[in-house]
Amino acid sequence: PKQKGVGKAPVNIALSKYWGKRNVDLNLPTNSSLSISLPGLGTETQIEWIENQSDQIYLNETKMAFDSSFAQRIRIFLDLFRPSPKGGFIVNTVNSVPTAAGLASSASGYAALVLALNDCFQWGLPLKRLSLLARLGSGSASRSLYEGFALWHKGQLDNGMDSYAEKIDQAWPELCIGLLEIDISTKPISSTKGMQNTVNHCELYQAWPDKAEADLQKIHRAIQDKNFQQLGQTAENNALAMHATMIATWPPILYWQPESVAAMHKIWQLRNDGCNVYFTMDAGPNLKLLFLKQDATVIQTHFPSIKIIQPFPQ
Ligand code: DP6
Repeated sequence: PKQKGVGKAPVNIALSKYWGKRNVDLNLPTNSSLSISLPGLGTETQIEWIENQSDQIYLNETKMAFDSSFAQRIRIFLDLFRPSPKGGFIVNTVNSVPTAAGLASSASGYAALVLALNDCFQWGLPLKRLSLLARLGSGSASRSLYEGFALWHKGQLDNGMDSYAEKIDQAWPELCIGLLEIDISTKPISSTKGMQNTVNHCELYQAWPDKAEADLQKIHRAIQDKNFQQLGQTAENNALAMHATMIATWPPILYWQPESVAAMHKIWQLRNDGCNVYFTMDAGPNLKLLFLKQDATVIQTHFPSIKIIQPFPQ
């Protein structure tokens, strides 16, 4: 049998966010989430199983130390799939996004790894199943199996078998995402830890799950109706509400830099001036802008360093 495989997956940005787990070991979320994938940005992974050898993990061509947190997290994940106790995986993973800068490289990373495993062991599993497996590596990875919009169902079952993402079959060619890089250094606290602290030490958190579900429904409808204002408003408000729960945690979790806040003011000003632009933010200082193609030139003028992505085929 083949003992080698490859996988490739895009990063995704949640428009209605995942924040909080009902089961930490299985990455079962407290609320469902909805995302959009960014084609061309993501991870490509090669994997090989070799008998009588320990794991070797390479990130962007550099060998990761055995006890680095990066390698440890991957090894624990790979433990789920080892054909025998004596042997190891050689993993070569290449990211086209900065690692741990709030651009969700763990999402594309675990999705690509699961696709590589599926290829390596010739499982022939459908994407729904692979989504479920990717979730075990990183929650948001469940959504990175798909191009376009994806919906990760939180599920009800304790074993998580109903907690996977599905594609939302709706294209929106005019939709643009602008990546505004504020700071690409590693974040002070991982999203895994950040959400745990929020769940356990934030009184406002109890309001989050219901709001997240309502926002998801609004965004889903906005996608079906191609109602951009509804999409943008809901996504921006959802991100700010998530960050509000982080800030209201003790000790506080604030991923924003002064430049992040300056960019927010600039976006609000542009909006007052009639430009239809919104933003979302994840567990980092960078902003992701949402706008339509007709406004791309204006956005590029006001944010010269912005990288504009068109998530759908033109
Ligand atoms: C703010 O998926 O990175 O980006 O499941 O612990 O790996 P783990 O967390 P992760 O959290 C992502 C949080 C977020 C929101 C989102 O992508 O939905």
